[in-house]
Amino acid sequence: MKVSEAVLSRHSIRAFSPEPVAEASVRRILDVARYAASNTNCQPWHLYVTMGAARQRVSTAILEAIRAGEPAAAEYRIHGHPNPEPYRGRQVTLGKTLYGMLGIAKGDAEGMKRQSQRNFLFFDAPVGMILTMDRRHGEGQWIDCGSFLASIMLVAREEGLHTCPQAAFAHYHKVLRRELGIPDNEIVLCGIALGHADLSVMPNTLRSERAPLEEWVKWFGE
Ligand SMILES: Cc1cc2nc3c(=O)[nH]c(=O)nc-3n(C[C@H](O)[C@H](O)[C@H](O)COP(=O)(O)O)c2cc1C
Repeated sequence: MKVSEAVLSRHSIRAFSPEPVAEASVRRILDVARYAASNTNCQPWHLYVTMGAARQRVSTAILEAIRAGEPAAAEYRIHGHPNPEPYRGRQVTLGKTLYGMLGIAKGDAEGMKRQSQRNFLFFDAPVGMILTMDRRHGEGQWIDCGSFLASIMLVAREEGLHTCPQAAFAHYHKVLRRELGIPDNEIVLCGIALGHADLSVMPNTLRSERAPLEEWVKWFGE
């Protein structure tokens, strides 16, 4: 697979098939992804990989915490408050398209909540990973972790697998700490669902658009 094929065939999957993923396959992905660049090679990332009963335990614990009234409380600003334009508009378009495809009407708070909570099942992926970083790092190391996350998602394509990056998990870092023994000095950045995808089922047919280069590149010559 060419790198550009991996980039263009990666998209967020929100309905995984139950087909299992071999641990060896996950190891191969991570063994390559660890060569992601990081400032001064500090490799700030930590990853918690859950499969089988352990993955299920994480999902159950978060859904139970939600039922018991635990509020969503990420330790970092997942978006701007408020998110300025043009970013907010793109966010709204994604939401409308996704919920529209799933037949969830505007104002159907229950439907939206149900879909949003599917995040915590890793959208039924057999592998659920949690990406963390030592909170004592500088902001620069968030860039490194983004680069590592991208490497995982791209190498997964080479293994014939798909992913969904999930900031939603950051909201339930307390549950994740309990379940996975994540120490207090690590900040939970996001989850990553990994598995096989049936690309013909909703909402996996969603291919979100991208702004053309003219909107965000400034060129300089002589
Ligand atoms: C850091 C990060 C966090 C994300 N968190 C979520 C999430 O919690 N739930 C979700 O369904 N999608 C999540 N996404 C997926 C984005 O919505 C998706 O990448 C974006 O809409 C572009 O679509 P594509 O990935 O299909 O190309 C996240 C993506 C990134 C990079």
